[in-house]
Amino acid sequence: MSLTSSSVKPVSVLVVGAGARGEIYSRYALAHPELMRVVAVAEPRDVYREQFVAQHDIAPESVFKDWKDAAAEEKMADAVLICTQDSMHLEPALAFAALGYHMLLEKPLSPDSQECRDIVQAVQRAGVIFSVGHVLRYTRYTQKLKQLLRDKAIGDVVSMQHLEPVGYWHQAHSFVRGNWRNDQHSASMLLQKSCHDIDWIRYIMDTPCEQVSSFGGLRHFRAENQPAGAADNCLDCGVESQCPYSAKKIYLGDTHKSTQGFLRVLTPDVSQENLLAALRNGQYGRCVYRCDNNVVDHQVVNIQFAGGKTASFTMTAFTRHEDRKTQLFGSHGTLEGDGRFIRITSFIDDSETVYDVDDIDSIDPAQSSTMSGHGGGDYYLMAHFIDAIRRNDASQILSGPRETLESHLMVFAAERARRECAVIAVHSA
Ligand SMILES: NC(=O)c1ccc[n+]([C@@H]2O[C@H](COP(=O)([O-])OP(=O)(O)OC[C@H]3O[C@@H](n4cnc5c(N)ncnc54)[C@H](O)[C@@H]3O)[C@@H](O)[C@H]2O)c1
Repeated sequence: MSLTSSSVKPVSVLVVGAGARGEIYSRYALAHPELMRVVAVAEPRDVYREQFVAQHDIAPESVFKDWKDAAAEEKMADAVLICTQDSMHLEPALAFAALGYHMLLEKPLSPDSQECRDIVQAVQRAGVIFSVGHVLRYTRYTQKLKQLLRDKAIGDVVSMQHLEPVGYWHQAHSFVRGNWRNDQHSASMLLQKSCHDIDWIRYIMDTPCEQVSSFGGLRHFRAENQPAGAADNCLDCGVESQCPYSAKKIYLGDTHKSTQGFLRVLTPDVSQENLLAALRNGQYGRCVYRCDNNVVDHQVVNIQFAGGKTASFTMTAFTRHEDRKTQLFGSHGTLEGDGRFIRITSFIDDSETVYDVDDIDSIDPAQSSTMSGHGGGDYYLMAHFIDAIRRNDASQILSGPRETLESHLMVFAAERARRECAVIAVHSA
């Protein structure tokens, strides 16, 4: 795909929700003003909205506090990025599809399977270009791996093992203290986080899914595991120094674990003073054993594909924060991947070949921009979306409506399998 500019004017974009994801995707316009321009925003939180307006120099008449106000106006941009929280995707998706906006919708489509179908129907009816935030499909690593499989580097792929190492402090941030801690307010862990992985597994196996089973639960982040002497806020805790999940360790000091992106979730102006106030008064200073969380901290899913191929998936909080690990088992060899290196072992001559994805191009645009998140997936997802609109070519989209609905239905079936201790058939989208 060419990322070069042409004489066509930049794709104009309305951003709905200038939180973490809206801000990140919009950086594509700053890296490539000749390709994309953010011309409007809807964001209720004053400081986040004002920072975003200044960053993109948006005209006052195109600044809204609520997506409904933007949807009430005539169409003001070529495309909309819908980056509100999970349970707030349906309504804006239906409204902006009806107005004819090309659409990038964050994953998951919706926590409700019928709403997922409704969204897909609406964008198909509107005939707009539609992309979903399945960033893992777009990385150079994934594309290299797909190419090797297309070239039959390990023959016929028979089975797969895939690990999603969420990471102990990332789990504490997002799924114990943070926005996705409770499925009553957001979605199951499998849908919220691992929908990326189930979607990726389906993409790599390239075969329709037939049935799933699953086990897992919330084992560790529970009240009964709070250590003796612990306080309900890490700032008051006498045993915090011995706790891996200490908010002081994660967010404060010189060696804190979180990145700037995570810190901005706590406060838009990241200073020690503001962070301390956020830990004292907000949700991120809470003891991980005293939160209102209910989503799982570990889960396994087994998948059977058409023709009897299989995959097993493990999600766990109890790892370092690192890249996913995959093994593929084929009729003529094996493939091991870790997000950067791909190692092929051939059964024909026992040879080993290792590919380093970082060697593919001397200059990786994702790494040289501020959009290197998700292994460059954030950058390449935007590059494909904008290019698809410029060329009016939906084939640039690697996670369009049909594929996305199919992998979402796999997730809903797997979560049902876990809750009901059953094997669940998956009917194609
Ligand atoms: N693709 C990925 O890898 C990835 C990673 C993290 C999150 N996500 C998904 O992205 C979505 C957003 O997550 P986030 O971390 O950016 O959340 P966020 O809370 O940082 O951002 C959501 C924004 O929507 C705004 N909002 C609320 N009501 C609104 C309204 N009526 N009109 C306009 N804006 C409104 C909020 O004020 C907030 O700024 C979620 O669905 C999440 O699951 C995807």
